[in-house]
Amino acid sequence: MSERFVIEGQGGTKKLRGTLAVKGAKNAALKALPASVLFADGMPLENVPDIEDVRRMRELLAGLSAGPALHKEVAERLRASIVLTGPVLSRWGQVSFPFPGGCVLGERPIDLFLQGFKALGAEVEEKESFFHFRAAGGKLKGARIFFPFVSVTATETLMLAAVLAQGETVLQNAALEPEIPILAAYLNACGAHIEGAGTPTITIQGTNGALLRANGRVFTVPPDRIEAGSFVILAALAGEEVEITGCEPAHLSALLALMRRADVDFKIGKDSITVFGGHKPNSAHKLISARTHEYPGFPTDLQAPYAVFMTQASGEGTLLETIFDSRFQYVDALVRMGADITVMNPQKILVRGPRGLTGKELEGPDLRAGLAYIIAASIAEGSSKINNAYIIDRGYERIEERLQKLGLNIKREKI
Ligand code: EPZ
Repeated sequence: MSERFVIEGQGGTKKLRGTLAVKGAKNAALKALPASVLFADGMPLENVPDIEDVRRMRELLAGLSAGPALHKEVAERLRASIVLTGPVLSRWGQVSFPFPGGCVLGERPIDLFLQGFKALGAEVEEKESFFHFRAAGGKLKGARIFFPFVSVTATETLMLAAVLAQGETVLQNAALEPEIPILAAYLNACGAHIEGAGTPTITIQGTNGALLRANGRVFTVPPDRIEAGSFVILAALAGEEVEITGCEPAHLSALLALMRRADVDFKIGKDSITVFGGHKPNSAHKLISARTHEYPGFPTDLQAPYAVFMTQASGEGTLLETIFDSRFQYVDALVRMGADITVMNPQKILVRGPRGLTGKELEGPDLRAGLAYIIAASIAEGSSKINNAYIIDRGYERIEERLQKLGLNIKREKI
C-alpha cells in the first residue's frame, strides 16, 4: 500500500503563517547510529528525526546481532547504509554488504570506500553482488588516505573505521560538512582521538581495539540544515511571515547569501530565521544563477528547491550541478507545470522567470526533489498529487502535519 500527498496550490497568494521547527539532521543521525557500533556501552542519542531512513538504519543495526553483515533488502534502500561498514569492520574485523541504494542521482560508485578499506589493511572479495571485507589479523591498521575528490560519506565511514584501528590514520581532502566535527567532538569525549575534523585533513590515533564509552553522555543530533534551507525557500515563495526555529543559520550561509542577493526579506536570530514573504510578490525577487559546491558552498541537496525559487523570480539564470552527474530529473515535471527551464547539459539548466505554475500529478525521483515538488505545488494554481510519499518520508518527519499548521492545504492519501 503506498501513499501520496494532495496539495491545493495557493496560486499567487502568499498565505503561510506561523512557526516551523526544524528537526534533527537526517544526514547526521545516519552517521551517529553507525558510530554506536564503536561503543562498549551503547551511544545515547537525542533529537533523532522520526523518518524512514532512520528506521531502516535501526533495522540494519539490529541485524548485526546475527553477524557482521548488512541485510541486502534494507541496505539497498538508503545510500547511508554504507557508513555502517566502517565501524563494523573496525570492531569485528569483517563486514559483508551489498552495493548501497538510496536516491538515484546518477552513477554513485563506492570506489573510495573499497580503496580506503584496502589501505587500512582489509582484503576484499566480491561474491554474488556482495562485498566481503576481512581485516588481516582481525584488526585494521592506520594508513594515510588521500581522497581524489571530496566525498561526505567516504570521509565519515573511514573516520569511523580508523577510530578502533591500530596506529595513526590521516584522511586528506576530507569533507567539511559541519556534522563531521560535531560527531568527532562527541566521539573524542568518549575516548576517541580525532583531530582536524571539519578541516581537509583529519588525523585519527586508533585505540587499538579499545571500545569507546559514553558513560551517559548523550549525542544531540544537530538541526537539519537542508530541511531549514528548504523551508526558507518555501516561506519566501508561499509565506506571508514564517519563523523557522531550532536551526543553525551559520550552516546555511551559502543559501542565505543567495536569498539576500535575490532580495528576499528575512531576519536571522540566534537559532531561527524569519522570512517575510508577504513583503513582495515573487516576481520582485531577482533570478540569481548558482552552482552547487562542497560545503560550505551551495549544497546540492538544496539545488531542486532553489530551482523552483528561480522559476518564480524575474530574469534568467543558470543552475550548475557540480556534485552529481544526473540531478535534474525533476525538471520535466516543473516544465509540465509551466516553468521555463532548458536543460543545457546533464549538469546545467537555464531558467527564465517569472512563470506561473499549474498543479499536476508528480512522482519525485529523490527525496530532495520531492520536497521541491511540495514547494512548487504550494504556489501552483489548482491541485497537485505527489505520488510515492515514502521517498519524502525518508527525510522529512510528518511533513504534511507540519505544513498544515502553517495553513498549507496538504493531505496524505492512500493509493
Ligand atoms: C552525501 O552523499 C549525502 N548523503 C547526500 O545527501 C549529499 O547530496 C552528498 O553527500 C553531497 O553533499 C548522506 O550523507 C547520507 P558524496 P554521499 O560521496 O556521501 C562520487 C540526501 O538527499 N563518489 O559526497 O553519497 C558521488 O557519485 C543525500 O540527503 C564516487 O565517485 O555523496 C558524487 O558524484 C542525497 N565514489 C560525488 O562523489 C565514491 O566512492 C560526491 O558524493 C563516493 C562518491
